[in-house]
Amino acid sequence: MAKKEKLSTDPYKGVRDFYPEDQAFLNYFFATIKGMVEKAGYVEYGASILEPAELYKSKGVENEEIINEQTYTFVDRGGREVTLRPEMTPTVARMVAGKRRELGFPLRLFSIPNLFRYERPQRGRMREHWQLNVDLFGSDSLYADAEIIGVAYGVMKAFGASDDDFVIKVGSRIWLNQLISELGLDAERAQSLRRLLDAKDKMPIDEFKTKLAELQVPEGVVLDAAPPAEIQRMLGEFAAAGITNIVFDPSIVRGFAYYTGMVFEVFDTHPLNNRALFGGGRYDDLTEMFDDEPIAGVGFGMGDATVHNFLEVRGLLPAYLPPTKVYVAITSPELAGEAQTFAGFLRAQGINTAIDFGDRKLGDQIKTATKHKIPYIIVVGPDELASGSFVVRDLAAGKDIPLAKEAIADFFLNS
Ligand code: HAM
Repeated sequence: MAKKEKLSTDPYKGVRDFYPEDQAFLNYFFATIKGMVEKAGYVEYGASILEPAELYKSKGVENEEIINEQTYTFVDRGGREVTLRPEMTPTVARMVAGKRRELGFPLRLFSIPNLFRYERPQRGRMREHWQLNVDLFGSDSLYADAEIIGVAYGVMKAFGASDDDFVIKVGSRIWLNQLISELGLDAERAQSLRRLLDAKDKMPIDEFKTKLAELQVPEGVVLDAAPPAEIQRMLGEFAAAGITNIVFDPSIVRGFAYYTGMVFEVFDTHPLNNRALFGGGRYDDLTEMFDDEPIAGVGFGMGDATVHNFLEVRGLLPAYLPPTKVYVAITSPELAGEAQTFAGFLRAQGINTAIDFGDRKLGDQIKTATKHKIPYIIVVGPDELASGSFVVRDLAAGKDIPLAKEAIADFFLNS
């Protein structure tokens, strides 16, 4: 018989598998975020990965690049065009508009969805990523803008970052729109200016100046721009609170068409990580696609991959520890039943216990525990079962702790 061609064990291009240690990071990412944003009064929501494609086609909603080149869209069996959500903002706007009468405002929402974008995979850019979304609806107060930036700052602190590890750059769509109208730029040149500003940090400053000149934009109006009064005030309040890594940067414009006011991005200051960790801003008209009374919104998205890179280069990633506390090894397979009872005894007292089946050498059983990074092992043999005294081995310290059966759970609960 001809040998069958084997399938690759690689995941689909640009997406990741989460083996237990990777999943543990993701869980840490979720838990750290949740702790921080719930403290600030945000509540969690969720939605399906699938959305009608038209949600992203509405004029003024999407970033052209995302809609034209990056969506995963297919036709379902009923002939409907469906898109795997590339971002969460249109979804949350849809949900808020859908229940505007029932929901109380200001409304503080967060979610950590997985998103899909057909991107060229590279460091910090994947085809599927997990993204914290924090959004505040129903207020156009400057304090709402400040709160959202404050939450972004707080999330970074919750991950153990110090102020010089990152910088929050704040720009303004109002400033930009005014500039475009003062310069009398037509739609095409206005778009070129937006793209150029967005790419500013990716080119040498001289090239940036040359390109400004090509667009007939005097360089001073960008390079010497002063922050608009309300942003100046906000930065002043942060500075008064001792936070100085939040700065005005007119080149922050953001790609999405829906932003209407303050926009911001959080940058890692490490040279290896040149991507934005977060991006967000104010979008006051987005719900207009559902009805005539727009609800003001302001929020941000933060990706798991960029945060992982941030933590990794600074040694801030938590060490992996499995949820399993102890591995029960067995001297011979005949004792498997009694060892199961012993494991059940530990589990009943709240100790997460995995067990071997005793059909391999003890050395191999211990290797398994070590590979799984389980911190403790207990060997169950005829003597232990007869006497009721066991030895708990701390695998990392190479230390043996003799304990009576009844004292084992207490030892784990206190260690
Ligand atoms: P965004 O700038 O497209 O904004 O994404 C926000 C963050 O998600 C980025 O700064 C980056 O950390 C991460 N991210 C985005 N795309 C990828 C990718 N392909 N792979 C890995 N990480 C990625 C938005 O999506 C807006 N909807 C955010 C928002 C919420 N604005 C208001 N509310």
